Amino acid sequence: MALKITVIGTGYLGATHAAAMAELGYEVLALDVVPQKIEVLATGRAPMYEPGLDELLQQHVEGLEGSTGRLRFTTSYAEVADFGDIHFVCVNTPQRHGEYACDMSYVDSAIESLAPLLSRPALVVGKSTVPVGSAERLAARLAELAPVGADARLAWNPEFLREGFAVQDTLHPDRIVVGVADDQAEKLLREVYAGPIAEGSPFVVTDYPTAELVKTAANSFLATKISFINAMAEVCEAADGDVVKLAEAIGHDERIGKKFLRAGIGFGGGCLPKDIRAFMARAGELGAAQALTFLREVDSINMRRRGHMVELAREAVGGSFLGKRVAVLGATFKPDSDDVRDSPALNVAGQIHLQGGQVTVFDPKGMENARAVFPTLAYAPSPLEAVRGAHAVLHLTEWSEFRELDPAELGAVAAERRVLDGRNALDPARWRDAGWDFRALGRPRA
Ligand code: UDX
Repeated sequence: MALKITVIGTGYLGATHAAAMAELGYEVLALDVVPQKIEVLATGRAPMYEPGLDELLQQHVEGLEGSTGRLRFTTSYAEVADFGDIHFVCVNTPQRHGEYACDMSYVDSAIESLAPLLSRPALVVGKSTVPVGSAERLAARLAELAPVGADARLAWNPEFLREGFAVQDTLHPDRIVVGVADDQAEKLLREVYAGPIAEGSPFVVTDYPTAELVKTAANSFLATKISFINAMAEVCEAADGDVVKLAEAIGHDERIGKKFLRAGIGFGGGCLPKDIRAFMARAGELGAAQALTFLREVDSINMRRRGHMVELAREAVGGSFLGKRVAVLGATFKPDSDDVRDSPALNVAGQIHLQGGQVTVFDPKGMENARAVFPTLAYAPSPLEAVRGAHAVLHLTEWSEFRELDPAELGAVAAERRVLDGRNALDPARWRDAGWDFRALGRPRA
Protein backbone atom coordinates (compact mmCIF):
# COMPACT_ATOMS: atom_id res chain seq x y z
CA MET A 1 0.00 0.00 0.00
CA ALA A 2 1.29 3.46 -0.87
CA LEU A 3 2.80 5.45 1.97
CA LYS A 4 0.70 8.23 3.40
CA ILE A 5 2.45 11.47 4.17
CA THR A 6 1.73 14.27 6.59
CA VAL A 7 3.46 17.64 6.79
CA ILE A 8 3.43 19.67 10.01
CA GLY A 9 3.87 23.41 9.44
CA THR A 10 2.88 25.14 6.20
CA GLY A 11 5.42 27.96 5.77
CA TYR A 12 7.81 28.14 2.79
CA LEU A 13 9.22 24.75 3.63
CA GLY A 14 6.05 22.89 4.63
CA ALA A 15 3.65 24.22 2.00
CA THR A 16 6.16 23.47 -0.75
CA HIS A 17 7.07 20.05 0.62
CA ALA A 18 3.40 19.08 0.95
CA ALA A 19 2.63 20.13 -2.63
CA ALA A 20 5.76 18.35 -3.91
CA MET A 21 4.80 15.12 -2.14
CA ALA A 22 1.34 15.30 -3.73
CA GLU A 23 3.01 15.90 -7.09
CA LEU A 24 4.96 12.66 -6.56
CA GLY A 25 1.65 10.83 -6.19
CA TYR A 26 1.32 10.53 -2.41
CA GLU A 27 -1.82 11.22 -0.40
CA VAL A 28 -0.82 14.16 1.79
CA LEU A 29 -2.37 15.74 4.87
CA ALA A 30 -0.76 19.01 5.95
CA LEU A 31 -1.27 20.60 9.36
CA ASP A 32 -0.91 24.11 10.62
CA VAL A 33 -1.93 25.45 14.01
CA VAL A 34 -2.92 28.78 12.38
CA PRO A 35 -6.40 28.21 10.91
CA GLN A 36 -6.14 31.25 8.58
CA LYS A 37 -3.17 29.68 6.79
CA ILE A 38 -5.09 26.47 6.22
CA GLU A 39 -8.07 28.40 4.90
CA VAL A 40 -5.94 30.14 2.28
CA LEU A 41 -4.10 26.95 1.30
CA ALA A 42 -7.39 25.06 0.93
CA THR A 43 -8.32 27.49 -1.85
CA GLY A 44 -5.14 26.52 -3.74
CA ARG A 45 -3.18 29.64 -2.84
CA ALA A 46 0.07 29.84 -0.88
CA PRO A 47 0.07 32.23 2.10
CA MET A 48 3.29 33.75 0.68
CA TYR A 49 4.56 34.67 -2.79
CA GLU A 50 6.60 31.78 -4.17
CA PRO A 51 6.87 31.32 -7.95
CA GLY A 52 5.09 28.17 -9.17
CA LEU A 53 3.64 27.21 -5.79
CA ASP A 54 0.06 28.38 -6.40
CA GLU A 55 0.01 26.40 -9.65
CA LEU A 56 1.26 23.25 -7.90
CA LEU A 57 -1.29 23.65 -5.09
CA GLN A 58 -4.10 24.10 -7.58
CA GLN A 59 -3.16 20.84 -9.26
CA HIS A 60 -3.45 18.86 -6.04
CA VAL A 61 -5.60 20.52 -3.34
CA GLU A 62 -8.73 18.50 -2.68
CA GLY A 63 -12.00 19.96 -3.91
CA LEU A 64 -10.56 22.26 -6.59
CA GLU A 65 -11.74 21.80 -10.14
CA GLY A 66 -9.50 19.47 -12.10
CA SER A 67 -7.21 18.72 -9.13
CA THR A 68 -5.93 15.27 -8.15
CA GLY A 69 -7.38 15.85 -4.67
CA ARG A 70 -4.26 14.30 -3.12
CA LEU A 71 -3.53 17.24 -0.79
CA ARG A 72 -5.70 18.14 2.20
CA PHE A 73 -5.24 20.41 5.20
CA THR A 74 -6.15 20.21 8.86
CA THR A 75 -5.49 21.78 12.24
CA SER A 76 -5.94 18.45 14.06
CA TYR A 77 -2.94 16.44 15.31
CA ALA A 78 -5.28 13.49 15.97
CA GLU A 79 -6.18 13.40 12.28
CA VAL A 80 -2.51 13.65 11.30
CA ALA A 81 -1.45 10.83 13.67
CA ASP A 82 -4.24 8.62 12.40
CA PHE A 83 -3.53 9.33 8.71
CA GLY A 84 0.23 9.23 8.22
CA ASP A 85 2.97 6.64 7.90
CA ILE A 86 5.56 9.39 7.59
CA HIS A 87 5.27 12.76 9.32
CA PHE A 88 7.51 15.60 8.09
CA VAL A 89 8.10 18.31 10.69
CA CYS A 90 8.55 21.61 8.81
CA VAL A 91 7.94 24.25 11.48
CA ASN A 92 10.22 27.26 11.81
CA THR A 93 13.03 27.83 14.31
CA PRO A 94 13.34 31.64 14.53
CA GLN A 95 16.02 33.51 16.44
CA ARG A 96 15.08 34.00 20.09
CA HIS A 97 14.37 37.58 21.01
CA GLY A 98 17.54 39.29 22.22
CA GLU A 99 19.63 36.11 21.96
CA TYR A 100 21.73 34.29 19.38
CA ALA A 101 20.15 30.89 20.03
CA CYS A 102 17.15 29.73 18.03
CA ASP A 103 13.71 29.14 19.44
CA MET A 104 12.96 25.40 19.42
CA SER A 105 9.48 25.75 20.91
CA TYR A 106 7.63 25.08 17.62
CA VAL A 107 9.62 21.90 16.95
CA ASP A 108 9.23 20.72 20.54
CA SER A 109 5.53 21.44 20.49
CA ALA A 110 5.07 19.58 17.17
CA ILE A 111 6.74 16.45 18.59
CA GLU A 112 4.92 16.69 21.90
CA SER A 113 1.55 17.15 20.24
CA LEU A 114 2.03 14.32 17.75
CA ALA A 115 3.89 11.66 19.77
CA PRO A 116 1.18 10.79 22.35
CA LEU A 117 -1.26 10.15 19.48
CA LEU A 118 0.96 7.71 17.57
CA SER A 119 -0.76 4.38 18.04
CA ARG A 120 0.66 2.76 14.89
CA PRO A 121 4.22 2.54 13.52
CA ALA A 122 5.38 5.85 12.12
CA LEU A 123 8.47 7.64 10.94
CA VAL A 124 8.80 11.25 12.10
CA VAL A 125 11.15 13.20 9.83
CA GLY A 126 12.52 16.55 11.00
CA LYS A 127 13.22 19.02 8.20
CA SER A 128 13.54 22.21 10.25
CA THR A 129 16.99 23.74 10.82
CA VAL A 130 17.91 22.87 14.41
CA PRO A 131 20.91 23.09 16.74
CA VAL A 132 23.07 19.97 16.59
CA GLY A 133 21.97 17.50 19.25
CA SER A 134 18.25 18.24 18.85
CA ALA A 135 17.44 15.05 16.90
CA GLU A 136 18.87 12.81 19.58
CA ARG A 137 16.92 14.64 22.27
CA LEU A 138 13.71 14.55 20.22
CA ALA A 139 14.11 10.83 19.39
CA ALA A 140 14.21 10.08 23.12
CA ARG A 141 11.15 12.26 23.73
CA LEU A 142 9.29 10.54 20.90
CA ALA A 143 10.03 7.06 22.23
CA GLU A 144 8.97 8.16 25.71
CA LEU A 145 5.65 9.70 24.65
CA ALA A 146 4.49 7.48 21.77
CA PRO A 147 2.14 4.62 22.67
CA VAL A 148 3.90 2.49 20.00
CA GLY A 149 7.27 3.10 21.71
CA ALA A 150 10.22 2.11 19.53
CA ASP A 151 7.96 1.79 16.48
CA ALA A 152 7.86 5.58 16.38
CA ARG A 153 11.18 6.36 14.66
CA LEU A 154 12.90 9.64 14.02
CA ALA A 155 15.06 10.79 11.10
CA TRP A 156 16.58 14.17 10.30
CA ASN A 157 16.35 15.29 6.68
CA PRO A 158 17.48 18.93 6.34
CA GLU A 159 16.06 21.05 3.56
CA PHE A 160 18.20 23.33 1.43
CA LEU A 161 15.53 25.19 -0.55
CA ARG A 162 15.96 28.83 -1.45
CA GLU A 163 13.03 31.21 -1.34
CA GLY A 164 12.04 32.19 -4.85
CA PHE A 165 13.13 28.71 -6.05
CA ALA A 166 11.33 26.62 -3.44
CA VAL A 167 9.35 24.48 -5.90
CA GLN A 168 12.32 23.82 -8.18
CA ASP A 169 14.67 23.10 -5.25
CA THR A 170 12.17 20.72 -3.63
CA LEU A 171 11.38 18.79 -6.80
CA HIS A 172 15.00 18.73 -8.00
CA PRO A 173 17.26 18.99 -4.93
CA ASP A 174 21.01 18.97 -5.55
CA ARG A 175 21.35 16.46 -2.72
CA ILE A 176 19.20 14.59 -0.23
CA VAL A 177 20.71 14.25 3.24
CA VAL A 178 19.20 11.92 5.81
CA GLY A 179 20.39 11.47 9.37
CA VAL A 180 19.14 8.18 10.79
CA ALA A 181 19.63 5.92 13.79
CA ASP A 182 18.39 2.72 12.13
CA ASP A 183 18.20 0.97 8.73
CA GLN A 184 14.41 0.94 8.68
CA ALA A 185 14.24 4.76 8.67
CA GLU A 186 16.78 4.93 5.83
CA LYS A 187 14.83 2.36 3.81
CA LEU A 188 11.56 4.29 4.22
CA LEU A 189 13.15 7.60 3.21
CA ARG A 190 14.77 6.04 0.15
CA GLU A 191 11.30 4.78 -0.78
CA VAL A 192 9.64 8.19 -0.25
CA TYR A 193 12.16 10.02 -2.42
CA ALA A 194 12.47 7.29 -5.09
CA GLY A 195 11.54 8.49 -8.57
CA PRO A 196 11.83 11.98 -9.98
CA ILE A 197 13.08 13.70 -6.81
CA ALA A 198 15.96 11.31 -6.13
CA GLU A 199 16.85 10.93 -9.81
CA GLY A 200 20.20 12.58 -10.28
CA SER A 201 20.35 13.73 -6.63
CA PRO A 202 23.07 12.21 -4.46
CA PHE A 203 21.54 10.50 -1.40
CA VAL A 204 23.79 11.02 1.61
CA VAL A 205 23.09 8.94 4.71
CA THR A 206 24.58 10.11 8.01
CA ASP A 207 24.04 9.97 11.74
CA TYR A 208 21.83 12.58 13.43
CA PRO A 209 24.47 15.16 14.39
CA THR A 210 26.11 15.16 10.96
CA ALA A 211 22.77 15.69 9.19
CA GLU A 212 21.97 18.61 11.49
CA LEU A 213 25.43 20.07 10.95
CA VAL A 214 25.32 19.73 7.15
CA LYS A 215 22.58 22.34 7.06
CA THR A 216 24.21 24.87 9.39
CA ALA A 217 27.62 24.32 7.79
CA ALA A 218 26.19 24.93 4.30
CA ASN A 219 24.47 28.15 5.36
CA SER A 220 27.59 29.31 7.23
CA PHE A 221 29.68 28.75 4.12
CA LEU A 222 27.27 30.73 1.95
CA ALA A 223 27.15 33.58 4.47
CA THR A 224 30.95 33.57 4.66
CA LYS A 225 31.24 33.75 0.89
CA ILE A 226 28.96 36.79 0.76
CA SER A 227 30.77 38.54 3.62
CA PHE A 228 34.12 37.73 1.99
CA ILE A 229 33.16 39.55 -1.20
CA ASN A 230 31.65 42.39 0.83
CA ALA A 231 34.93 42.72 2.73
CA MET A 232 36.66 42.92 -0.68
CA ALA A 233 34.15 45.63 -1.63
CA GLU A 234 35.26 47.66 1.39
CA VAL A 235 38.90 47.31 0.32
CA CYS A 236 38.02 48.12 -3.31
CA GLU A 237 36.31 51.31 -2.19
CA ALA A 238 39.38 52.33 -0.19
CA ALA A 239 41.74 51.49 -3.07
CA ASP A 240 39.55 52.63 -5.97
CA GLY A 241 39.20 49.08 -7.27
CA ASP A 242 36.13 47.41 -8.78
CA VAL A 243 34.65 44.53 -6.75
CA VAL A 244 32.39 43.40 -9.61
CA LYS A 245 35.41 42.81 -11.88
CA LEU A 246 37.31 41.29 -8.98
CA ALA A 247 34.49 38.80 -8.26
CA GLU A 248 34.28 37.89 -11.93
CA ALA A 249 38.01 37.34 -12.14
CA ILE A 250 38.38 35.20 -9.00
CA GLY A 251 35.18 33.33 -9.91
CA HIS A 252 36.84 31.90 -13.02
CA ASP A 253 38.85 29.74 -10.66
CA GLU A 254 36.57 26.72 -10.33
CA ARG A 255 37.71 26.14 -6.76
CA ILE A 256 36.18 29.52 -5.90
CA GLY A 257 33.23 29.62 -8.33
CA LYS A 258 31.15 32.58 -9.48
CA LYS A 259 28.04 32.04 -7.38
CA PHE A 260 27.33 33.92 -4.15
CA LEU A 261 30.00 36.49 -4.88
CA ARG A 262 27.67 39.42 -5.48
CA ALA A 263 28.78 42.31 -3.30
CA GLY A 264 26.09 44.66 -2.03
CA ILE A 265 24.15 45.50 1.12
CA GLY A 266 24.53 41.95 2.37
CA PHE A 267 22.45 38.94 3.28
CA GLY A 268 19.16 38.89 5.15
CA GLY A 269 16.05 36.75 5.30
CA GLY A 270 14.70 34.15 7.68
CA CYS A 271 17.69 31.77 7.37
CA LEU A 272 21.30 32.89 6.91
CA PRO A 273 21.47 35.56 9.68
CA LYS A 274 19.70 33.52 12.33
CA ASP A 275 21.36 30.24 11.34
CA ILE A 276 24.92 31.53 11.76
CA ARG A 277 24.00 33.06 15.12
CA ALA A 278 22.29 29.90 16.36
CA PHE A 279 25.33 27.90 15.20
CA MET A 280 27.65 30.13 17.25
CA ALA A 281 25.39 29.80 20.29
CA ARG A 282 25.28 26.01 20.00
CA ALA A 283 29.04 25.71 19.47
CA GLY A 284 29.46 27.73 22.66
CA GLU A 285 27.28 25.27 24.60
CA LEU A 286 29.38 22.41 23.23
CA GLY A 287 32.67 24.04 24.24
CA ALA A 288 33.62 24.67 20.60
CA ALA A 289 33.00 28.44 20.49
CA GLN A 290 36.49 29.18 19.22
CA ALA A 291 35.91 27.17 16.05
CA LEU A 292 33.22 29.61 14.98
CA THR A 293 34.57 32.98 16.07
CA PHE A 294 35.00 33.80 12.35
CA LEU A 295 31.20 33.75 12.01
CA ARG A 296 31.02 36.72 14.36
CA GLU A 297 33.13 38.62 11.82
CA VAL A 298 30.96 37.33 8.96
CA ASP A 299 27.94 38.72 10.79
CA SER A 300 29.52 42.08 11.56
CA ILE A 301 30.83 42.62 8.00
CA ASN A 302 27.27 41.89 6.88
CA MET A 303 25.62 44.31 9.29
CA ARG A 304 28.18 47.00 8.43
CA ARG A 305 26.94 47.00 4.82
CA ARG A 306 23.60 48.45 5.82
CA GLY A 307 25.16 51.31 7.76
CA HIS A 308 27.56 51.99 4.91
CA MET A 309 24.69 52.27 2.44
CA VAL A 310 22.95 54.78 4.72
CA GLU A 311 26.17 56.82 4.94
CA LEU A 312 26.60 56.88 1.16
CA ALA A 313 22.99 57.98 0.76
CA ARG A 314 23.44 60.74 3.35
CA GLU A 315 26.56 61.94 1.58
CA ALA A 316 24.71 61.85 -1.77
CA VAL A 317 21.96 64.17 -0.52
CA GLY A 318 24.42 66.68 0.90
CA GLY A 319 25.22 65.47 4.42
CA SER A 320 21.77 65.41 6.06
CA PHE A 321 18.49 63.69 5.27
CA LEU A 322 16.40 66.53 6.70
CA GLY A 323 14.06 67.85 4.02
CA LYS A 324 15.30 65.25 1.51
CA ARG A 325 13.23 62.71 -0.36
CA VAL A 326 14.74 59.28 -0.89
CA ALA A 327 13.26 56.69 -3.25
CA VAL A 328 13.90 53.07 -2.24
CA LEU A 329 13.52 50.41 -4.92
CA GLY A 330 13.07 47.04 -3.21
CA ALA A 331 11.89 46.05 0.26
CA THR A 332 12.24 42.26 0.29
CA PHE A 333 15.45 40.51 1.39
CA LYS A 334 15.89 39.14 -2.13
CA PRO A 335 14.00 39.20 -5.44
CA ASP A 336 11.18 36.78 -6.33
CA SER A 337 9.97 36.68 -2.75
CA ASP A 338 7.58 38.77 -0.66
CA ASP A 339 9.62 38.05 2.48
CA VAL A 340 10.88 41.08 4.40
CA ARG A 341 12.29 39.21 7.41
CA ASP A 342 15.61 40.78 8.35
CA SER A 343 15.63 42.53 4.98
CA PRO A 344 18.71 44.72 4.42
CA ALA A 345 16.63 46.90 2.04
CA LEU A 346 13.91 47.63 4.57
CA ASN A 347 16.49 48.15 7.30
CA VAL A 348 18.29 50.79 5.21
CA ALA A 349 14.95 52.47 4.37
CA GLY A 350 14.04 52.49 8.06
CA GLN A 351 17.38 53.96 9.18
CA ILE A 352 17.05 56.82 6.67
CA HIS A 353 13.50 57.47 7.81
CA LEU A 354 14.63 57.56 11.45
CA GLN A 355 17.34 60.07 10.49
CA GLY A 356 14.71 62.44 9.13
CA GLY A 357 14.61 61.48 5.43
CA GLN A 358 11.29 61.24 3.58
CA VAL A 359 11.46 57.70 2.27
CA THR A 360 9.16 56.30 -0.41
CA VAL A 361 9.40 52.57 -1.08
CA PHE A 362 8.36 50.48 -4.04
CA ASP A 363 8.62 46.70 -4.20
CA PRO A 364 6.94 44.41 -6.76
CA LYS A 365 5.68 41.85 -4.21
CA GLY A 366 6.73 42.88 -0.71
CA MET A 367 4.66 46.04 -0.12
CA GLU A 368 2.05 44.45 2.11
CA ASN A 369 4.60 42.76 4.37
CA ALA A 370 6.81 45.86 4.41
CA ARG A 371 3.87 48.05 5.40
CA ALA A 372 3.02 45.69 8.25
CA VAL A 373 6.61 45.89 9.60
CA PHE A 374 7.21 49.57 8.85
CA PRO A 375 3.89 51.41 8.57
CA THR A 376 5.45 54.87 8.94
CA LEU A 377 7.32 54.72 5.61
CA ALA A 378 5.60 55.98 2.46
CA TYR A 379 4.79 53.42 -0.22
CA ALA A 380 4.33 54.20 -3.92
CA PRO A 381 2.37 52.15 -6.46
CA SER A 382 5.18 52.16 -9.07
CA PRO A 383 8.92 52.86 -9.37
CA LEU A 384 8.08 56.08 -11.22
CA GLU A 385 5.89 57.35 -8.36
CA ALA A 386 8.55 56.39 -5.79
CA VAL A 387 11.18 58.36 -7.73
CA ARG A 388 8.97 61.43 -8.32
CA GLY A 389 10.58 64.37 -6.49
CA ALA A 390 13.42 62.22 -5.03
CA HIS A 391 16.82 63.69 -4.25
CA ALA A 392 18.37 60.21 -4.37
CA VAL A 393 17.29 56.80 -5.64
CA LEU A 394 18.47 53.68 -3.80
CA HIS A 395 18.35 50.32 -5.55
CA LEU A 396 18.28 47.82 -2.70
CA THR A 397 16.72 44.56 -3.97
CA GLU A 398 17.68 43.30 -7.40
CA TRP A 399 14.27 42.52 -8.92
CA SER A 400 14.80 41.95 -12.66
CA GLU A 401 12.20 44.59 -13.50
CA PHE A 402 14.40 47.26 -11.91
CA ARG A 403 17.11 46.48 -14.46
CA GLU A 404 14.57 47.22 -17.21
CA LEU A 405 13.62 50.67 -15.85
CA ASP A 406 14.16 53.59 -18.22
CA PRO A 407 16.62 55.97 -16.52
CA ALA A 408 15.58 58.83 -18.82
CA GLU A 409 11.92 58.49 -17.83
CA LEU A 410 12.82 58.37 -14.14
CA GLY A 411 15.23 61.26 -14.56
CA ALA A 412 12.39 63.42 -15.86
CA VAL A 413 10.47 63.15 -12.55
CA ALA A 414 13.36 62.99 -10.02
CA ALA A 415 14.38 66.16 -8.16
CA GLU A 416 18.06 65.17 -8.53
CA ARG A 417 19.57 62.49 -10.74
CA ARG A 418 21.48 60.52 -8.12
CA VAL A 419 21.28 56.75 -7.92
CA LEU A 420 23.03 54.34 -5.57
CA ASP A 421 23.08 50.69 -6.55
CA GLY A 422 23.16 48.63 -3.36
CA ARG A 423 23.09 45.31 -5.24
CA ASN A 424 25.50 45.85 -8.13
CA ALA A 425 22.80 44.81 -10.55
CA LEU A 426 22.06 47.96 -12.58
CA ASP A 427 24.02 48.88 -15.71
CA PRO A 428 26.09 51.96 -14.79
CA ALA A 429 26.49 53.06 -18.44
CA ARG A 430 22.72 53.17 -19.07
CA TRP A 431 22.15 55.42 -16.05
CA ARG A 432 25.15 57.64 -16.65
CA ASP A 433 24.16 58.09 -20.30
CA ALA A 434 20.79 59.40 -19.09
CA GLY A 435 22.55 61.99 -16.94
CA TRP A 436 22.50 60.20 -13.59
CA ASP A 437 25.27 60.42 -10.99
CA PHE A 438 25.62 56.65 -10.55
CA ARG A 439 27.34 55.10 -7.54
CA ALA A 440 27.61 51.42 -6.60
CA LEU A 441 29.08 49.66 -3.57
CA GLY A 442 32.70 48.64 -4.05
CA ARG A 443 33.05 50.24 -7.49
CA PRO A 444 34.89 53.33 -8.67
CA ARG A 445 32.88 56.56 -8.85
CA ALA A 446 33.29 56.84 -12.65
C1 UDX B 1 19.30 30.32 2.11
C2 UDX B 1 20.12 29.18 1.48
O1 UDX B 1 20.60 29.57 0.19
C3 UDX B 1 19.27 27.91 1.37
O2 UDX B 1 20.05 26.85 0.85
C4 UDX B 1 18.74 27.57 2.75
O3 UDX B 1 17.89 26.43 2.67
C5 UDX B 1 17.97 28.75 3.35
O4 UDX B 1 18.81 29.92 3.36
P1 UDX B 1 17.42 32.00 1.18
O5 UDX B 1 17.33 32.56 2.56
O6 UDX B 1 16.18 31.74 0.41
O7 UDX B 1 18.25 30.62 1.19
O8 UDX B 1 18.27 33.06 0.35
P2 UDX B 1 19.63 33.10 -0.50
O9 UDX B 1 19.33 32.98 -1.93
O10 UDX B 1 20.64 32.19 0.07
O11 UDX B 1 20.06 34.61 -0.23
C6 UDX B 1 20.30 35.05 1.11
C7 UDX B 1 20.68 36.48 1.15
O12 UDX B 1 22.00 36.66 0.62
C8 UDX B 1 19.79 37.44 0.34
O13 UDX B 1 19.54 38.58 1.13
C9 UDX B 1 20.61 37.77 -0.88
O14 UDX B 1 20.30 39.03 -1.40
C10 UDX B 1 22.02 37.73 -0.31
N1 UDX B 1 23.07 37.45 -1.31
C11 UDX B 1 23.06 36.26 -1.98
C12 UDX B 1 24.07 38.38 -1.54
O15 UDX B 1 24.07 39.46 -0.92
N2 UDX B 1 25.04 38.11 -2.44
C13 UDX B 1 25.08 36.93 -3.14
O16 UDX B 1 26.00 36.75 -3.94
C14 UDX B 1 24.06 35.99 -2.91
